[in-house]
Amino acid sequence: MRVQLIDFSMAVKEGGSGLPVLFIHGYPLNNKMWTPQLDSLSEVVHVIAPDLRGHGDSESTPVEDLDSRGYSMNMMATDCSALLDRLKINRPVILCGLSMGGYISFAFYRKYPERVKGLIMTATRASADSQESVNARNEAIQLAKNKGINAIIEASLPKMMAPKTYTQHPELVMEVHKIMQTTSLDGIVGDLMGMINRPDSTSMLSEIHVPTLIIHGNDDQIIPLEEVETMHNAIPKSKLVILPDAGHLLNLEQPELFNNTLKMFLQELTSE
Ligand code: MLT
Repeated sequence: MRVQLIDFSMAVKEGGSGLPVLFIHGYPLNNKMWTPQLDSLSEVVHVIAPDLRGHGDSESTPVEDLDSRGYSMNMMATDCSALLDRLKINRPVILCGLSMGGYISFAFYRKYPERVKGLIMTATRASADSQESVNARNEAIQLAKNKGINAIIEASLPKMMAPKTYTQHPELVMEVHKIMQTTSLDGIVGDLMGMINRPDSTSMLSEIHVPTLIIHGNDDQIIPLEEVETMHNAIPKSKLVILPDAGHLLNLEQPELFNNTLKMFLQELTSE
């Protein structure tokens, strides 16, 4: 399905009914990364999964048309809220964001707390970029501009999964490679600029008053476990689940465990 928002056309996958759960993908991916969740969870809830602007089948916005914040987390949170408006979803939703999708969820919660019934923070962190990360992202922007998306994929794909998944599941590696390849250059550069400029969300953690599931892979090579322990200790109504044999894309690496954990969390929310 396509939805026309103010300045671009957004591709969206939708299914099921009941409690709305908005799945926000990570960088440099699209809603296909949620395929195992959309198939399974649409049996119990209303799943909605957009391709963020510049990703998958959604239109992109030239970064030259934007300021130095690029595809800011705030802009993408606003896109998600506009999508809910277009779908006429007025009741509070559950946000399930992976990594950059989690940064967008923080921005969404800051902007529209009344629209949020619960959070599923997947392989994400509250802290802002360190100087080292900013430098690495600036190098990635140059790499993307000079050498294109394939150079970005080559540099980042091995870190997206647990080392064991990467060597033992070549079919999954190929699948993720294919997903990444559909991201536009503007999407890549815009995301990197947006992530560099995102604010630190640590101070808002104690003010998150909705049930929150923090779910993380034991072998995540991008976001260390200490980051999620910090989030868990600071968010009052949070639950932390660490999945074994899973890295940054834990929802694809351990789909059954991931889906069952989400189903239990969602069931508690539905019976409230
Ligand atoms: C993501 O998966 O969205 C990115 O790895 C996030 C990041 O680079 O901080």
